[in-house]
Amino acid sequence: MSRGSSPHEPVLLAEAVELLRVSPGATVVDATLGPGGHAAALLDRVGPTGRVIGIDRDPASIAFASERLSDYGKRFLALHGRHEELVTLLHQAGIVVIDAALADLGISSFQLDDPSRGFAFGSDGALDMRMDRSTAGPTAADLVASLDEPSLRSLIATWGEERLAGRIAKAIVRARSRAPISTTRELAQIVEHAAGPAARRFRIHPATRTFQALRIAVNQEIVSLPAFVSGAVSLLRRGSRLAVISFHSLEDRAIKRAMLDLANRCICPPGLPVCGCGRENIVRIVTSRAVVPSADEVARNPRARSAKLRVVERL
Ligand SMILES: C[S@@+](CC[C@H](N)C(=O)[O-])C[C@H]1O[C@@H](n2cnc3c(N)ncnc32)[C@H](O)[C@@H]1O
Repeated sequence: MSRGSSPHEPVLLAEAVELLRVSPGATVVDATLGPGGHAAALLDRVGPTGRVIGIDRDPASIAFASERLSDYGKRFLALHGRHEELVTLLHQAGIVVIDAALADLGISSFQLDDPSRGFAFGSDGALDMRMDRSTAGPTAADLVASLDEPSLRSLIATWGEERLAGRIAKAIVRARSRAPISTTRELAQIVEHAAGPAARRFRIHPATRTFQALRIAVNQEIVSLPAFVSGAVSLLRRGSRLAVISFHSLEDRAIKRAMLDLANRCICPPGLPVCGCGRENIVRIVTSRAVVPSADEVARNPRARSAKLRVVERL
């Protein structure tokens, strides 16, 4: 079976596939299909009698993965939409129960390395950052142009966990009063200048956290995670699993919280043989500590370095 080549190296691939315990014949959802790296491995695992449904909000990723996975025929189905709407998307496709679900959050190298998408400060492109360019917006340029200084500071502090958010917001407001900020390079230079020489000593580029904040805000990334986790779990057959790979602390915290909320619902005193509070636990936590990539994987693929994998099992 041909897998084609991919512009994105799947992260924690062996670990995720192993922990999902997918059997031949299973119906598996990859809720963040991207270029289809995890989906290809899952298709091989489910074999000729199984199927994989891939969801992505980015039409370009759907098109790329559909072409790449075309050899799998009807065993692969791509759906354009948001993972937090997966229950509706799958019901519309006639699927009401699944044997495993995976989400590999954030964006792929396929998106990051395309300057026209506006995700990267290392190359110049329009300041867009929408994962789904078929939506009306707002783009990152819209937010940078329209938010007042306190709102910009709060956005950069909250979603970028950026210590210098105040200074950066002030610099953005000053710069945009002279000319609109419409490209990634312009914004990166403004942030770099505002952060000052001290920030250049840090391991990451001074604009990393501001770009992360804008991307999260444009795509409402963190606020959508609890709905995704509870939706995916609601479709899982008993004993089957959901695995989520996150890439920064905000994502990981939201995923951990959403999983714990479903694992710790019951308020009965410990030791009761049967739950009497009516709030039965829905999942059990499989990974009490998040699984992280091996040193080998990080050496091969530095973008994997901050990845964390968490898994729950439906009760
Ligand atoms: C890290 S990539 C997935 C890469 C893929 N696992 C692979 O190995 O080829 C994440 C993908 O999730 C998509 N995505 C992010 N948030 C989403 C959401 N709320 N709903 C649907 N897709 C989303 C992005 O567009 C991107 O294509």
